[in-house]
Amino acid sequence: SWTTGSIVDEQVAAIRERVGGKRAICALSGGVDSAVAAALVNRAIGDQLTCVYVDHGLMRKGETEQVEKDFVAATGVKLRVVDAADRFLSALAGVSDPEQKRKIIGREFIRVFEQAQAELVAEAGAVGEDVAFLVQGTLYPDVVESGGGTGTANIKSHHNVGGLPEDLEFELIEPLRKLFKDEVRMVGQELGLPDEIVHRQPFPGPGLGIRIVGEITRERLDLLREADAIVREELTAAGLDREIWQCPVVLLADVRSVGVQGDGRTYGHPVVLRPVSSEDAMTADWSRLPYDLLAKISTRITNEVRDVNRVTLDITSKPPGTIEWE
Ligand code: XMP
Repeated sequence: SWTTGSIVDEQVAAIRERVGGKRAICALSGGVDSAVAAALVNRAIGDQLTCVYVDHGLMRKGETEQVEKDFVAATGVKLRVVDAADRFLSALAGVSDPEQKRKIIGREFIRVFEQAQAELVAEAGAVGEDVAFLVQGTLYPDVVESGGGTGTANIKSHHNVGGLPEDLEFELIEPLRKLFKDEVRMVGQELGLPDEIVHRQPFPGPGLGIRIVGEITRERLDLLREADAIVREELTAAGLDREIWQCPVVLLADVRSVGVQGDGRTYGHPVVLRPVSSEDAMTADWSRLPYDLLAKISTRITNEVRDVNRVTLDITSKPPGTIEWE
């Protein structure tokens, strides 16, 4: 629409003018907001922008590739992927407590991002350029919730991977500050981003790390990634992506139950499906998914995911249950 088009034009002109010949960096999370903010700034200043994507090893199947391939193909953005999975997994070894997990993931994220940032600044300095700007996908509701402050990183730790470093000498570019989520999606569409990114359902910053009840290990992540991929595939095939707010799949890693699979007795883990409908994640209701769909998901998971022998459905609304299990 012309409104969305004019938002883009206005922002592009303003960003160009403000940045001048300097450089900017942006942390991509895989989510809608940072993707649209980055695409907008990229439209304005091209390769004066560098995006950094920290792969913490807690992403879902195909998500890192989606950023690396589809997002780059759609925007032409200059991207650095930091593979930090080993580092995150060692830091998380032996930890089961959900808040402890969040703290560790947030802390490691900041360290890895700061390191990437320092490298960029050093490289730019070597060719006499100045990295002066940090791009963030702050939306209007974030601004309101944080008291409308300007000029500082003002993201709630709950909603991002620990927020970003505070001692920055960067100026912030927040091109989505006046927009609501649906407007951000329209801007994303206008900028030619793929539907899978523009209409992505919410996914927590700490990723699958808070969907494994118990300790996080590589094996458990692999199991959960497979089960989650099946659920997403079937929900998409059933045409339910836009009706469902999100559908966490949770691995009860410390629980085992007896099953019979193939010729033998198994002693495997259950997964929980948590499909919810919601307007804003503050409250939610469990989604009444069709039984046939649930049956198909259950059959596929128990056939295809080794060590998962039971599929359960969470029928708790929020409140009292939160959307995530951790
Ligand atoms: P809960 O579980 O509190 O979740 O009902 C509400 C919404 O927030 C997401 N969520 C998170 N997002 N970091 C995030 O970036 C987190 O630590 C986190 N915990 C929950 C959740 O997916 C849901 O959309």
